Amino acid sequence: MFNDVGTVLIVVHSSVSVVFGRLLVHELVMIHVSRRLPEMLDRDDIIKKEKEFMVPAYARKEIVVHKGKGTLLWDLDGTEYIDCLSGISVVNAGHSPDRLVKAGSEQLSMLLHCSGLYHNVPQTLLAEKLAGLTPSNLKKSFFCNSGAEAVEGAVKIAKKYCLTQGRSGAAVIALEGSFHGRLALSLTLTGQAKYKQGFGTFANAPGVVHAPMPYCYRCPLAYPDCGIECARRVEDIVKYHTTGDVAAMIVEPILGEGGIVVPPDEYHATVQKICKDHDILYIADEVQTGVGRTGKMFAIELFGISPDIMTMAKGLGAGMPIGGYITTDEIAGSLVSGDHFSTFGGNPVCCRVAAENLDYLQEEGLVKNSAHIGDKMMKQLLELQESLEVIGEVRGKGLMIGIELVKDNGTKEPAEKATQSVANNMVKSGALVGTGGVKKNVLRIQPPLCMTEEQSERVLNLLEAALKGI
Ligand SMILES: Cc1ncc(COP(=O)(O)O)c(C=O)c1O
Repeated sequence: MFNDVGTVLIVVHSSVSVVFGRLLVHELVMIHVSRRLPEMLDRDDIIKKEKEFMVPAYARKEIVVHKGKGTLLWDLDGTEYIDCLSGISVVNAGHSPDRLVKAGSEQLSMLLHCSGLYHNVPQTLLAEKLAGLTPSNLKKSFFCNSGAEAVEGAVKIAKKYCLTQGRSGAAVIALEGSFHGRLALSLTLTGQAKYKQGFGTFANAPGVVHAPMPYCYRCPLAYPDCGIECARRVEDIVKYHTTGDVAAMIVEPILGEGGIVVPPDEYHATVQKICKDHDILYIADEVQTGVGRTGKMFAIELFGISPDIMTMAKGLGAGMPIGGYITTDEIAGSLVSGDHFSTFGGNPVCCRVAAENLDYLQEEGLVKNSAHIGDKMMKQLLELQESLEVIGEVRGKGLMIGIELVKDNGTKEPAEKATQSVANNMVKSGALVGTGGVKKNVLRIQPPLCMTEEQSERVLNLLEAALKGI
């Protein structure tokens, strides 16, 4: 920072003495000041300014993230943190990997934006790459800018497909406990009241119905004797809560914000079969689970099925804002030009970084590393659970791990405050973990997939200390 400022000063000096007149000197000094200003602010200034100038949409920890590399982040004051949430499951490749920075920088200077009115190279190549990485029936992509847009785009094409089949596709089924975004339809699909409260009818799109979440830990029935009743219930929902004309069912392969809830192995195949019997398209919302997070490129592979539409965002762009969905040739054919559009969607820089990111994750073995480090952490956490009454359940796949905390292992009363205090204490000791869950009592460990064994040991030691401290 100091060097940057120094460099600007030298430019000002040499320019002043050799070439420029008085007015330009003033302009150059102003440039110098405005470039220097942000660097001179400390974290308290930034936090104060944010309160003054930004809509208070976020509950933020008092850290001003300034720099990131791999699994590490640094505050403006230089404090180092190990990132155990990856910017909420976004920087799967780690913070700012050199190879992705290089690809993005090249593309920045080549072409920063291209409207949807023309073809561009990075977008097409990313679509081709995704067709090769997703289940074989999925071929055609649409790109947008976020997870919520991906979800809404996916439902929109499902409805259009129904219309081309002579049906209205009036209803959509989502899961209780799910999270699909914060726009009107995606928030309606989200199966948790806490995200909708205070918004009246905003999250009240017609035709959305919810089916039970496959949350074995809190289900009154015991798996496998339950015969996966939660999956079977989808049949009743179609029969009793809809006209039978349902466009799609949208599911997170593993529920993320809902508390890293992993359904039984046969859950998705069972529900998809019910959907097929009723001509209902199956949408896998891989916004959080996708791009290597669960130890597979896409989490639905863990369940051995191919959805009709798959959404993605978060980890796709390694931090660049890109989302999208991929679908079959047949479903894609139901859209005609003008049906859907996004000004920024498929931005060439985002697409170039996303394509490089997909290669990088595979070539560097980071998807495998996610499975390997994830398994190791799960084993150690299950051992820790033996000795700590506060851990109700440990669950997850790859580096998508949830630790549900309870006040009592018998009653399973959620330990919401303890969850927050463990997360806060971990921040103090230098590890950023997440929290979530329908009962707000789940610690979330979702670090960059480049996490090393040594780093995972460090995180587990900090976690053990924090859990023992409550
Ligand atoms: C499964 C899932 N879908 C959709 C979204 C919404 O994504 P975005 O915040 O990019 O709109 C999220 C965000 O957490 C998510 O986890």
